[in-house]
Amino acid sequence: MSPSGDGRPAGVRPAKREDREELMHFVSRTWEWGDYVPSVWDEWLGDASGRMFVAEVDGRPVGMNHLRYLEEGVGWLEGVRVHPDYRGRGLATELGKRAIEHAKGLGADRFRLITSASNLSAQKQIARLGLSRKLSFGIFEAKGGSASVACEPAVGGVPDLRSSHLGGFFADRWALRSVREYGVAKLRREGRLFAARRDGSEAFAVADAASFGGERFGQVSLLCGEPDLAADLAASLAARFSGHCYAFCSLGSGSAELLPAKGFGEPDEMLLYGAP
Ligand SMILES: CC(C)(COP(=O)(O)OP(=O)(O)OC[C@H]1O[C@@H](n2cnc3c(N)ncnc32)[C@H](O)[C@@H]1OP(=O)(O)O)[C@@H](O)C(=O)NCCC(=O)NCCS
Repeated sequence: MSPSGDGRPAGVRPAKREDREELMHFVSRTWEWGDYVPSVWDEWLGDASGRMFVAEVDGRPVGMNHLRYLEEGVGWLEGVRVHPDYRGRGLATELGKRAIEHAKGLGADRFRLITSASNLSAQKQIARLGLSRKLSFGIFEAKGGSASVACEPAVGGVPDLRSSHLGGFFADRWALRSVREYGVAKLRREGRLFAARRDGSEAFAVADAASFGGERFGQVSLLCGEPDLAADLAASLAARFSGHCYAFCSLGSGSAELLPAKGFGEPDEMLLYGAP
């Protein structure tokens, strides 16, 4: 990869429809179970607010990523994939730099992404982009628990984000967004802020039904509150979403340890990275 005159890598460019076949040939085999990227390719290609990029070597597309622009001024990086034969040449780093540069042009001044805690090669590469680790959290899949506490849209109290169970973030179609940056009032208006009360305690969560790559699922982010009540709130919200539901919670928050006993599976451990 030789840099072009303006310092940008010569081989990173916006994705085109024709790139799909060659990229998906290896992307569909990223992990043993496959990959979600083929199911979101069309959506990402047509993304009017973000942009998908491709890394080319000798005229062949061998890497890709997607920049999602979040309206609160955050560039969200996702879906970086490099062909196994072309790894270790800095392609993912160049794709990431290009996405960050594009996001800055859209007005973003914060950049974030998540990766699996077990993906050590991704973590090293992410550090090279200048992003640092902000939060360790778990994604818990609901296994059919039942509602054990009444939950209702939060109309009164304000969640105490200083003691948040998810570092002050909430999950939105596999992106973590800051509650403060997005706005509690907006979440409340959108009907996504829920509360439960018991014995003088209160717990809050953000929850809604989402769709990503054709998959529909519920997403529940524990915000704050007494751990047992917060875990019960998550279970009650999950029971609202027939079919798939995921709960998001920091590991070590107190609630995370309780979720498997409340109808959730063991967590996939994830890391949030960001800059600044
Ligand atoms: C993770 C993944 C995207 C990394 O892609 P990559 O192109 O190999 O990454 P990079 O080459 O930019 O960085 C990796 C290494 O290349 C090295 N490298 C070699 N030449 C380089 C150059 N010119 N510039 C920068 N880095 C270079 C870096 O030192 C880095 O090594 P280190 O971090 O071990 O010290 C790739 O392994 C992949 O597609 N994995 C499967 C999908 C995946 O895990 N995606 C991430 C999910 S968040």
